[in-house]
Amino acid sequence: MKIITTIKEIRAALNQEKKSGKTIGFVPTMGYFHEGHLSLMRKAKENCDVVVTSIFVNPIQFGPSEDFETYPRNLKNDSKMAEEVGVDYLFLPSVEEMYSGECLAYVDVEKITKVLCGANRPGHFRGVATIVSKLFNIIQPDFVYFGEKDYQQLVAIKKMVDDLNFDIQVVGVPIVREKDGLAMSSRNKFLGLREREAALVLNKSLNLASEMVKNGEKDSIVIKKAMKRLIKKEPLVNLEYLSICDNIYLQELSKIEENVLIALAARVGKARLIDNVLIEGN
Ligand code: PAF
Repeated sequence: MKIITTIKEIRAALNQEKKSGKTIGFVPTMGYFHEGHLSLMRKAKENCDVVVTSIFVNPIQFGPSEDFETYPRNLKNDSKMAEEVGVDYLFLPSVEEMYSGECLAYVDVEKITKVLCGANRPGHFRGVATIVSKLFNIIQPDFVYFGEKDYQQLVAIKKMVDDLNFDIQVVGVPIVREKDGLAMSSRNKFLGLREREAALVLNKSLNLASEMVKNGEKDSIVIKKAMKRLIKKEPLVNLEYLSICDNIYLQELSKIEENVLIALAARVGKARLIDNVLIEGN
């Protein structure tokens, strides 16, 4: 695995690969790898000749009171894990490399990013869309891989790729969970023992909602009430939002439709956690 820190060098290396007709799979990350990240890299490995992963904790997608400074980092461990799954290039740019000078051009995906997490994190998705566009322009991948845990990010990137005519295929990869159901996240590191136990209620509430839909419940208010009742039993969990929405534009649905996304975010101690379930074919 080659570790590269400059835009010039990664471009030169990937140009060579492309000249020899190889397809490039790209997994953009902020590091602190867990099985969720590795599943994206493995998928890229299955589909593409060359796999590139980037690690860059992107300052412009964090709000002023968010966890940019404390976001977990462990480059040594990440490099080892990426190498073990067969990543070919690990791109590790510095903040100065990615944002030299004053940045005046941004990418904004409208509508989809104003709800759910976007409603509570103004500017977050503008930061994500901007860094992802920059990385796409640098890497010029054929395929890119994003986790479905951040479903809103996935649909926003898909829309951006479509609307701005990036010649890239976006692949969504299912959520990876711990054995007890907790969605894997780099931020789980912030959870104390008791908080981690309490956080399980998030997945449990999504399972409850799936069960209710399977049993024919169509009223979103009834489903939300049942979920909130369950979550309230864990006082360490502070629900930020709970949404039952369509899976393309993420607009609230009062009645369950054919494909429905149930998504939530909650604060548990120092961690802000997100989770979701996509229920198809109702
Ligand atoms: O999902 C993430 O880790 C980040 O939002 C991403 C896509 C790497 C952009 O910084």
